[in-house]
Amino acid sequence: MEGYGPASYGDAFADIYDDWYPPTLQTRAAVDALARLAGGSPVLELGCGTGRLCLPLLERGLEVDGLDASEAMLAQLRAKPQAAALRAHHGDMARFDLGRARFGLVFAAFNTLFNLGSAAEQAACFARVARHLRPGGRFVIECFLPAGAAADAEAGADSHNGGPGGAPTTDAIELRDLTADRVVLRISRQDHAAQTVSGQHVELSEAGVRLRPWHLRYASPAELDTLAGQVGLVLEERWSDWSGAPFDEHADQHVSVYRHDAAPSPPGGL
Ligand SMILES: C[S@@+](CC[C@H](N)C(=O)[O-])C[C@H]1O[C@@H](n2cnc3c(N)ncnc32)[C@H](O)[C@@H]1O
Repeated sequence: MEGYGPASYGDAFADIYDDWYPPTLQTRAAVDALARLAGGSPVLELGCGTGRLCLPLLERGLEVDGLDASEAMLAQLRAKPQAAALRAHHGDMARFDLGRARFGLVFAAFNTLFNLGSAAEQAACFARVARHLRPGGRFVIECFLPAGAAADAEAGADSHNGGPGGAPTTDAIELRDLTADRVVLRISRQDHAAQTVSGQHVELSEAGVRLRPWHLRYASPAELDTLAGQVGLVLEERWSDWSGAPFDEHADQHVSVYRHDAAPSPPGGL
């Protein structure tokens, strides 16, 4: 999406993020699973946002770092008293370098990996993660499975594979929220060959129009496993949610746990 960069999502959603995405039962399950996987070792959250997950992990006594590309998101996070003990870093998850810090657990929840707009950027992120993991450490991602995404990925970016009826793109307008004084529309375009979904949350009220842009590049589980394998990360577990439910044909998302089994040899001499 033209004019869209690493900070765009966070800058557009920081002011309403906690209201629109409050903690749920899955949040508690995520914190339980992540704390168990960390096993007392230091944790790094990529795209930590306003702290929905990293703050409860900190409260459980873990040593936690958070990285985010949006200063607006980090400002919301730092304004919370519980964040005082958190090491919050401003940076891009495809390029970060935290020096000698090595983590037992790195994670990117809530489709955050897909905020990286190309396969190359996602591969760069896996390489950065591998570099920051201790031997035996884990990288955990939570990603959605859009309808037709697996077929798109298998067909490859050069294909003419399309959505319903063979169309190269699928457009959607959905009503997200409707009250007496405002309406929020979710408007999106999925590009099947590029494996991207670009969208806007459009808020209409007496105060005017507020645009909140977002852009995702999705990948199938198989493609993600390949990116992981290129940097020495091996799939250890895959669930359909944070409670560990089996990943099967009914799943609309996955939580994948990769383990750093071998010394990484990231491509490109990172
Ligand atoms: C969907 S939110 C998730 C926030 C938080 N992890 C949660 O689960 O509630 C995605 C977050 O990733 C951040 N982000 C997007 N692209 C990024 C990038 N390239 N590098 C680092 N952070 C990024 C956004 O600013 C935002 O805070």
